[in-house]
Amino acid sequence: MRLDKFLGDQNIGTRKQIKEYIKNGRCTINGEVATKPDIHIDENKDEISFDGEILSYSKFHYFMLNKPAGVVSATKDGKCQTVLNLLAGENVKDLSPCGRLDIDTEGLLLLTDDGELIHKLLSPKKHVDKTYEVHLSKEISENDIARLEEGLNIGDYNEDGSVKMTLPARVKVLPDDEEGRPLIHLIIHEGRFHQVKRMLEAVGNEVLFLRRLSMGSLQLDEDLAPGDYRPLTDEEISDLKK
Ligand code: URA
Repeated sequence: MRLDKFLGDQNIGTRKQIKEYIKNGRCTINGEVATKPDIHIDENKDEISFDGEILSYSKFHYFMLNKPAGVVSATKDGKCQTVLNLLAGENVKDLSPCGRLDIDTEGLLLLTDDGELIHKLLSPKKHVDKTYEVHLSKEISENDIARLEEGLNIGDYNEDGSVKMTLPARVKVLPDDEEGRPLIHLIIHEGRFHQVKRMLEAVGNEVLFLRRLSMGSLQLDEDLAPGDYRPLTDEEISDLKK
C-alpha cells in the first residue's frame, strides 16, 4: 500500500499534513528517511516509523470518547448531535459506538470499526464489567445495597414469562458529591436498556447524574473533558481483545 495511505490509516494526519510530514523527513521506512508519499510499502514486512516511533499496522480504528450529555450514542440522528459528529475530524469510515449511553449520560464510550470487538464486548454471554459513577437523589441504605448486589426485578421478563432478575452487581459508597448528593460506584455485568436508572428506581431512589467510568479493561482517561476523545493505545486495544 502507499505510504501516505498507511500513515492516514494510523491517524497520523490528513493527506495534506502527511505529505508535509514526509517532506520534513519525519517518516522512515526500514530506517531510511522516506521522501515520497506515494512510495509503496509492505505493511506486514516493512518497519515504518514516525517521529522515531515504530507504527504497527492495524486496519481497524479505536477511539475513546468522553461522551458529553446532550449527544446521542448513534451514527445518525434526525434531530440531535451524535457521538460520530464529535469525531468528524477523523475521516474514518464505518465507526460505530460500542453500546449506548443515554442522551443525559456522560463518560466512556468506545468507537471503533472493529465489529468483532464490538460483538465481543456487548455479547450478553460475556458479562463484561461496566463501572458507573451514580449521583443519587437520596441516601442509599444497607438493605438497598444488598438488593442491588444480589440482583433484583427491574421489570424485565424471560421468554417463559418468569422475571428476569439483574445479575449480581457491586456497590461502593463514596463521600457525597460537591453538590451534597449521595454518590456510589455501581459495577454491572449486563447492558440492559436504562439499566442503572431502573436498578436505582427499583430500590426507590433516583439517578440525578450518571457517568460511565470503565468497560472491561478500558478506563475513562481523566484528562479527557466531556466531548474530547483520543485513539486507544496499543496496550488498551490488546487488553480489550484478551
Ligand atoms: N444505564 C442507564 O440507565 N443509562 C445509561 O446511559 C447507561 C446505563
